[in-house]
Amino acid sequence: MEHLIKQYALEPGALEIQYIEEYFGEFPRKKTAAEIMARLHDRESLILMAEAPLPGDPSGTVVPVSFKVVHELRASESDPRLTDLVARLRDVVTFEGRRVLYTWIGGTRRDWRGHGHFRALTEESEVWAHTVGFQEVVVKTKNRFYDMRGTLDHLQFDVIKYEPHHVDNRDSKVYLSKQLTADVLRTHTSHRTVTFV
Ligand SMILES: CC(C)(COP(=O)(O)OP(=O)(O)OC[C@H]1O[C@@H](n2cnc3c(N)ncnc32)[C@H](O)[C@@H]1OP(=O)(O)O)[C@@H](O)C(=O)NCCC(=O)NCCS
Repeated sequence: MEHLIKQYALEPGALEIQYIEEYFGEFPRKKTAAEIMARLHDRESLILMAEAPLPGDPSGTVVPVSFKVVHELRASESDPRLTDLVARLRDVVTFEGRRVLYTWIGGTRRDWRGHGHFRALTEESEVWAHTVGFQEVVVKTKNRFYDMRGTLDHLQFDVIKYEPHHVDNRDSKVYLSKQLTADVLRTHTSHRTVTFV
């Protein structure tokens, strides 16, 4: 299957993600376009969205079905949430002298899950990241996000840290990462067509 991917510039990308998050209302962490632009405007980032046909629609109309936003994570951050993230990762990720990427937000609409859209976006982001010089990509999830944990397992992310939640273990945080070597790119399996917006 050929996956149709759009790579967005910051402003149209932020608006498109606000749209998919608000309109489809399925994703747990809703972000506004303003939040997305505030976080990404001064750092290297990538906004990808996959499109697919509406089932049973003879006109072949395509709609956004999956998205992924990744951004640079620096040793020294000013946003308190990112400062906190870097502090939590310091014992398991080396920031000095290398480029680290953070998978911030992403998901696939329920009716389109299991068709490889998220793999395609992840693989496209890894090609981009390797090309621009990132050495490692990190992601944070929670025990209770079973779909995401299963998916990250299939995409060969390694657990690098576990932070227990003292009240409900399903809210415990799990940090995972992947080293972005050329070998990783050779494991890719998706077929993608990318257009730029
Ligand atoms: C997790 C999520 C993004 C997966 O998207 P998707 O488009 O269905 O994923 P893909 O079809 O590309 O699957 C990628 C790989 O993960 C596997 N996978 C997908 N869902 C899975 C699940 N629930 N359990 C185990 N493995 C799963 C697929 O089999 C595939 O592996 P393969 O290519 O080796 O066969 C989607 O289920 C989702 O949006 N979930 C809600 C978002 C969420 O939980 N966010 C929490 C915040 S971190």
